Amino acid sequence: MDKLNFKGSVMLNPTPVVLVTSKERDTGKVNAFTVGWVSTVCTKSPIIAMGIRPERYSHELIKNSGECVINLPTKHLVKIVDYCGVVSGRKEDKIKKFDLKLHDGVAISTPSLESCPVALECKVKSITPLGTHDLFLLEVLNVKVDDNLLDENNKICFNKANLICYSHGEYYGLNANPLGSFGYSVRKNTNSKKKKRRKKNHKSPK
Ligand SMILES: Cc1cc2nc3c(=O)[nH]c(=O)nc-3n(C[C@H](O)[C@H](O)[C@H](O)COP(=O)(O)O)c2cc1C
Repeated sequence: MDKLNFKGSVMLNPTPVVLVTSKERDTGKVNAFTVGWVSTVCTKSPIIAMGIRPERYSHELIKNSGECVINLPTKHLVKIVDYCGVVSGRKEDKIKKFDLKLHDGVAISTPSLESCPVALECKVKSITPLGTHDLFLLEVLNVKVDDNLLDENNKICFNKANLICYSHGEYYGLNANPLGSFGYSVRKNTNSKKKKRRKKNHKSPK
């Protein structure tokens, strides 16, 4: 098969797609906008990188307040996700338009979106101009998770959250059935090991 070459571009697909809430420092007005250029870049401290164009209303709000919330939307919110990504909060109050319920901040003063099952409360660590976008490094101070996502062992079942992603201009739901799990390629098959041991120890009657 021949490989085609395209000029350098940000063809990293899929990406997460999130709804970011921020708050106007003086009036307390809350805004939500859609972000696809977002990724985890460090575990400890927990840091997420986000690319935001300087002309976004949210850029101004996040820069001035020094905080924001990364809300993970579900497939039921995909139309709102798209709308918040094409209409600016400078023109319309998106929270009011969709009657989005807000949940008070815990570690920061910016609220999260009630309808999103997971919300990461972040504080701005740095802002670096890169070109079209500014790179925001965001430290996660607190994570809110809907309690119905936890199983009996208190494991968060993200596969039950109906989360979405974004790929080359389109939104996709995530398959609830995993293809594998972290480290499964090198994990010993404990079942077959147990079987072998049982076989070895099994003494046939004489
Ligand atoms: C799927 C999708 C992903 C987007 N990703 C980004 C992004 O990563 N950074 C950005 O600055 N704008 C992004 N946008 C555009 C903003 O969300 C859009 O301009 C929005 O209207 C800005 O809202 P605001 O002015 O209220 O902040 C994206 C839009 C969509 C639909």
